[in-house]
Amino acid sequence: MSALIAAVEPDTGKVVNVGHLILATIGALAVGGVLLVVGAVPTVAAQHQHEHITPTAEKLNESFGADSAQWVTGFESEGRTIFDKRFEVLDALGLEPGMDVADIGAGSGLYSRLIAERVGPSGQVFAIDIATNLVNHITETANAMGLGNVRAIVGGDKSPRLLEQSVDLVFIADSYHHFEYPGEMLQGIKKALRPDGRLILIDWERIEGVSHPFILAMVRAGKAIFINEFSAAGFELVEEIPIFTEEYMLEFRHR
Ligand SMILES: C[S@@+](CC[C@H](N)C(=O)[O-])C[C@H]1O[C@@H](n2cnc3c(N)ncnc32)[C@H](O)[C@@H]1O
Repeated sequence: MSALIAAVEPDTGKVVNVGHLILATIGALAVGGVLLVVGAVPTVAAQHQHEHITPTAEKLNESFGADSAQWVTGFESEGRTIFDKRFEVLDALGLEPGMDVADIGAGSGLYSRLIAERVGPSGQVFAIDIATNLVNHITETANAMGLGNVRAIVGGDKSPRLLEQSVDLVFIADSYHHFEYPGEMLQGIKKALRPDGRLILIDWERIEGVSHPFILAMVRAGKAIFINEFSAAGFELVEEIPIFTEEYMLEFRHR
């Protein structure tokens, strides 16, 4: 069954046929005969730790693994907000030579490579993704560019697979809403971040009646709920960095 429904794909900024995805999403949301209202999702703190709270993300994550070449092009094209604003974002990260950074949900490695150039050979970038094809792509492109400080890692859906206190900065761009087990991921991230480390979250504004319907369907919750989830995981919001309009960029530290 397919449907020709076009929409702007928020993670790539491209107009795509999303009929199949919407149908798959509705199918996933309707599992068990219960039609969940996307966005009416309680905070992670209120969930069982091992509860799978993002059926939409599961479907999307399957597509990343299945067709990485398509996503590599989509992630690194003009018209995608996070691509167009990449140098403003980089400037706001406060990167210094020698810093160790984790890019979690690294996708094609767009930011991993740019961050690696700025932290230099004395620093390290852990480019983590659950899609093996994308991780392989990151390794190949970093090698081709002579970036010996990029370590591409296949993460788990419940763990970034980082060592304790191993990074100065955690960078999560357009990926948190894809985490199928955000509570577990945040526990691992909290352990991996050094005591004076910072965490940057970039994600989509999700406002009922305002945001594009595709964002309302794909992104499970809005900024306030995500901030609550980070707070419940032991982080405090430091500031919002005003670079985007339809997305937001937040900085957190350990509380
Ligand atoms: C929309 S892409 C964003 C990619 C990249 N951050 C960028 O902005 O170009 C989301 C990525 O998150 C990855 N992902 C989803 N769940 C993950 C998890 N638990 N751990 C690591 N990566 C995950 C997906 O495989 C996908 O590559």
